[in-house]
Amino acid sequence: MNYKEKITAPEVGAGEETAETSLRPHALSNYIGQKMITDNLKIFIEAAKLRGEPLDHVLFYGPPGLGKTTLAGIIASELGVDIRITSGPAIGRTGDLAAILTNLNENDVLFIDEIHRLNRSVEEVLYSAMEDYALDIIIGKGPSARSIRLDLAKFTLIGATTRAGSLSAPLRDRFGVISKFELYNTDELIKIIKRSASILNVSADEDSLRNMAMRSRGTPRVANRILKRVRDFSQIKGDGTITPELAQMAFDAMGVDDLGLESLDRDILRVIIERFNGGPVGIDTIAAAIGEERITIEDAYEPYLIQAGLLHRTQKGRMVSEMAYKHLGLINLMEDKQITIED
Ligand SMILES: Nc1ncnc2c1ncn2[C@@H]1O[C@H](COP(=O)(O)OP(=O)(O)OP(=O)(O)O)[C@@H](O)[C@H]1O
Ligand SMILES: [Mg+2]
Repeated sequence: MNYKEKITAPEVGAGEETAETSLRPHALSNYIGQKMITDNLKIFIEAAKLRGEPLDHVLFYGPPGLGKTTLAGIIASELGVDIRITSGPAIGRTGDLAAILTNLNENDVLFIDEIHRLNRSVEEVLYSAMEDYALDIIIGKGPSARSIRLDLAKFTLIGATTRAGSLSAPLRDRFGVISKFELYNTDELIKIIKRSASILNVSADEDSLRNMAMRSRGTPRVANRILKRVRDFSQIKGDGTITPELAQMAFDAMGVDDLGLESLDRDILRVIIERFNGGPVGIDTIAAAIGEERITIEDAYEPYLIQAGLLHRTQKGRMVSEMAYKHLGLINLMEDKQITIED
């Protein structure tokens, strides 16, 4: 099975964009969780509006599916301005960026997803655009080449990335606000699923909501996807109302266990336990052992395994916890170990 087709993959799947749009909150008041980020933004947005200036440039980072794109849209609508959405890989040449920038209106928001994937020359053009709202363009070649400066409308850049570490320092330094997205807790996920259920016109009792939330790996995108699959089961196998039994039927069919783990998550833990004695073992070795890319493991799998307390990152490598042994029913393989946790 392709990784992105997996039910708990945090990335957006093929054909999912339209469905996502309908479940996307459009105002800060119905954006759930990430309170630290939204509380601050509220103030910055008010202040910018009061002064009639653009909001400072904002950088969002954190695992996929936590609502970075959604929040960027909300910021634009709270500011009452237009948003232009693009992504690092989509801006291939400096001319592409120049075209986007010159088309922005005063105080507009430019959202660049996967901003760590901008190429160098494009990134350098972005520096003066962010700092001075100006474009330095070179016209001509060789000795007759000259540089002209083009003024731009004042705008807000919102950049999003799953890997803040891959961003160059000069780019990172030009953001006034840098916000880290955290995985959501169960109560927040319950609220998100409740809200989505009412948009999708399906009802569910508290137990079912909690059971779905607990399997959502702290990720709203996964929560919404689980809700939709559970809804399918309740429509076909029941009367359309979600019950804990119908939900369980869907979880079993999807191969999602009580903690929201799927086979690849369990493979990661099992490999560390069975082949590397519980760790510590390097991430590259794990990646090779299960045949998955290191980046995918780091961005999409690890954050939740760590938050769930199943995996630890230590100085010498990844280590599974006692809970992981228990969860996989491999407690007989556990030896006494000293675990030093790094973060
Ligand atoms: N705080 C939230 N409240 C309610 N729904 C949310 C929230 N955050 C995200 N969602 C839902 O989760 C879905 C995914 O969110 P979004 O596309 O904004 O994630 P993302 O962080 O941009 O992911 P990626 O890194 O893959 O681009 C959205 O369709 C939205 O319905
Ligand atoms: Mg996004």
